[in-house]
Amino acid sequence: MHTVDAIHSRRSIRAYQARPVDRTVIGEILWDAAQAPTLPVGLDTPFTFVVIEGADRLALYGSQALDFARANGADGPEDDTRVFFDAPVAIVICAEADAAGEALQNCTRAGQNLMLSAEARGLGTCWVRLALPWLCDSQTRAELAIPDGLTPFAAFTLGHPQGMPAGKPRERPPVIWSP
Ligand SMILES: Cc1cc2nc3c(=O)[nH]c(=O)nc-3n(C[C@H](O)[C@H](O)[C@H](O)COP(=O)(O)O)c2cc1C
Repeated sequence: MHTVDAIHSRRSIRAYQARPVDRTVIGEILWDAAQAPTLPVGLDTPFTFVVIEGADRLALYGSQALDFARANGADGPEDDTRVFFDAPVAIVICAEADAAGEALQNCTRAGQNLMLSAEARGLGTCWVRLALPWLCDSQTRAELAIPDGLTPFAAFTLGHPQGMPAGKPRERPPVIWSP
């Protein structure tokens, strides 16, 4: 799929087929994600990807993430299946936090690459901010083997979509052609 087509056809996928995603394909998507531009210049390892596989495991984690969000006063969906949906894979992008916030921006740029790469390969993704506070909790980090010194900045579901939602068409943005 052409990059421009992937940009326009990508939609958040909240319903997945039960079949797993091949690890080779996951690896290729992560390699595409890692091509994102980064600051500062010359960072050897701007991000680390944590891959969580298994719809049942993610269903359990979804329930834990929703409990955690509620216990910490965050709004969440009624239903814990709306956290990771029925996805067979979740990917967490982590980095060493920095005061300037570059790590967060690096990770979000990698996340956008990840979503477009998945789209181009016929896979679906959804950004799942709801799970982020739970992912940053020390108990969760230990469970997922996220090393000390790395902060989860962005999380995504990944899988074969059950269908492609129409999504909300974008308005053309204002453009100022500076004279
Ligand atoms: C930073 C960020 C966090 C998001 N977190 C969630 C989430 O927790 N749950 C969810 O269902 N969608 C989440 N989304 C997806 C947005 O709802 C979605 O991108 C938006 O409605 C536009 O729809 P589209 O992605 O289909 O174009 C998130 C998107 C972004 C950019």
